[in-house]
Amino acid sequence: APLLRILGIETSCDETAAAVVSRHPDGRGEILSDVVLSQLEEHSAFGGVVPEIAARAHVEALDGLIEEALDQAQVRLCDINAVAATSGPGLIGGLIVGLMTGKAIARAAGKSLYAINHLEGHALTARLTDGLSFPYLMLLVSGGHTQLVLVRGVGEYERWGTTIDDALGEAFDKTAKLLGLPYPGGPAVERAAREGDADRFKLPRPLVGEARLDFSFSGLKTAVRQAATEIAPLNDRDVADICASFQKAISRTLQDRIGRGLARFRSEYAHLDVTPALVVAGGVAANQEIRRTLQALCLEYGFRFVAPPMKLCTDNAAMIAWAGLERMAADFAPDDLDVQPRSRW
Ligand code: KG4
Ligand code: ZN
Repeated sequence: APLLRILGIETSCDETAAAVVSRHPDGRGEILSDVVLSQLEEHSAFGGVVPEIAARAHVEALDGLIEEALDQAQVRLCDINAVAATSGPGLIGGLIVGLMTGKAIARAAGKSLYAINHLEGHALTARLTDGLSFPYLMLLVSGGHTQLVLVRGVGEYERWGTTIDDALGEAFDKTAKLLGLPYPGGPAVERAAREGDADRFKLPRPLVGEARLDFSFSGLKTAVRQAATEIAPLNDRDVADICASFQKAISRTLQDRIGRGLARFRSEYAHLDVTPALVVAGGVAANQEIRRTLQALCLEYGFRFVAPPMKLCTDNAAMIAWAGLERMAADFAPDDLDVQPRSRW
């Protein structure tokens, strides 16, 4: 296989990102550049991502970031083989900006275009960072997604579990807002929880014990609201105790849900002669207690726990470029220039 190089573009949510990644003839990936501009400040006053603001910010930043990514990688457009742009799922305004830009570059430079599913980007990242081989399990826990996915091959994914209401990061964000903590809520809740008593509040552990592998977090949020209302006005101690109890409920829930997933993987792939692996991705993977829980679980079930560096766990364009490279290397046809962005996919 020849050396391949791809320019990646990511604009599906509140991060504008561009990257150049190469794939060596031996299959190894190399990140030549990876630039991300977070719009956190634009959105924090609103306590969440505002789609219209996000789309406008992508328009303003994207071309400069692409230039920066090419400069840092020391390549010109003629040195790349293709352009990979996220085409869904996500906020439609941002997707339009990124995909149209990708199309324009591909057309003008005479390169092929790969329209990438954002989730595929997350799913394949561990092969770029850790050279993981198929099959493996991936837990994606971010502000928009909560999914346990069986990754069988490039383009071969089986969703084993998903949330039936809020995403896990969303549950952190809503809980933080309820307690008067800043956005994004995850880091604030984790910080407050460190000083708290995790056993003070008995919060629900949704779906624990059920055979299917789905998640549900909205009941937990409601229980937090109830607890907070009952003891209002809240002092710092109360907030810390609620956060600690909340995080403990999440950890126990994940322990049960993911434990079942690992057991199912083991029974379906009993013949596998390599150590099975669980990969985490998404912003919530930054949470130390959740990490410890998953790590302990992996130890218990004999899994390798793979947590790519945080920069590659959260939204970035290197994973999109890599997904394009994986598709290219696996002889998937590039996409036509009339491919449409899909907010749901
Ligand atoms: O993957 P990500 O950066 O992007 C999007 O989903 O867009 O995930 C962001 C989410 C937010 O909901 C944030 O509150 C959560 O990840 N998060 C955390 C932590 N850091 C970020 N949740 C729990 N604990 C953390 N330390
Ligand atoms: Zn993402």
